[in-house]
Amino acid sequence: MTYSRIIGTGSYLPEKVLTNHDLEKIVDTTHEWIVTRSGISERHLVAEGELTSDLALQASRRAMEAAGVTAEDIDLIIVATTTPDQVFPSTACILQDKLGVRQGVAFDVQAVCSGFIYALNTADLYIRGGQARTALVVGAEALTRLLDWTDRSTCVLFGDGAGAVVLQASEQPGILGAKLHADGRHRGMLKAEARINNGQIEGSPYMYMDGQAVFKFAVKVLAEVVDELLADLNLGYADINWLVPHQANIRIIEATAKKLGMGMDKVVLTVGEHGNTSAASIPLALDTAVRAGRIQPGQNVLLEAVGGGFVWGAVLVKW
Ligand code: ACO
Repeated sequence: MTYSRIIGTGSYLPEKVLTNHDLEKIVDTTHEWIVTRSGISERHLVAEGELTSDLALQASRRAMEAAGVTAEDIDLIIVATTTPDQVFPSTACILQDKLGVRQGVAFDVQAVCSGFIYALNTADLYIRGGQARTALVVGAEALTRLLDWTDRSTCVLFGDGAGAVVLQASEQPGILGAKLHADGRHRGMLKAEARINNGQIEGSPYMYMDGQAVFKFAVKVLAEVVDELLADLNLGYADINWLVPHQANIRIIEATAKKLGMGMDKVVLTVGEHGNTSAASIPLALDTAVRAGRIQPGQNVLLEAVGGGFVWGAVLVKW
């Protein structure tokens, strides 16, 4: 039987750091308010002219180096992003060119904060179905370009960055299972409505979020989807060694960990230093934990996310 295994991780954060104290000078907020409500102390911001594919390129090179693979080995590239470089071609095709990959398949996945989970599941299906052998799965965002810097309810929560994994066919179990959902009825809770028409932008190009509604929805569905996935796999909470959640808000993460009966020492947390980087947040957090030597071979790592759409899901990975 063919499985897919993560054989390398990488990540990249843009140079510029914006702290909560910096934000105090931009909008009517305080470090105290932001940390208490979200757990965020600082976030990274893309530089002028720095594109999502540039962040993806750095993260991908690091993941490929860690995996010991070259451009000749990659036969599938999936980039999860809500902030592509341009309308088309896809950021995955731009990344493919920058990496010097000349074969295989490349496309983007748009599932906002759940993008990496969706992309990982898709790559797993490609590999298990025999259509790919070595996949590069990337979450990359220049999300701060969608922020209205006069709206204190959103601009304090988000950041930019990229994370990547190399997934390869193996006889040994790697990705154990995935459970994904979408419910478009809730699409109004979190959105950026802008569309291009006849050379003009129609609708707001800024992010809108009903924070309290998102919070309640996220806590509910994350707990449910983990239960569904574990039931499918005939496993229990005790079988999970690490939780690597989408890094949106520490209070959502704490609520999920409590439901799973996990101590916060088993939860990988980067939201404090990265903010919410949407599709990039899980691979960024995963790479941080892997490089710190926290995640060890044989351990079960649970990834979970929820985001605009609404879309949500969980993936269990044997390391
Ligand atoms: N600084 C200071 N005060 C603020 C700020 C700010 N940055 N933003 C809002 N406030 C004020 C509000 O105006 C309000 O004032 P009022 O009582 O005078 O009207 C007060 O703080 C309370 O606002 P609430 O919205 O009720 O604050 P809440 O406790 O709900 O926290 C937050 C807001 C942090 C957005 C919370 O609802 C939340 O975390 N929601 C989830 C959002 C999230 O995770 N989004 C990520 C995207 S989706 C995803 O990735 C899952």
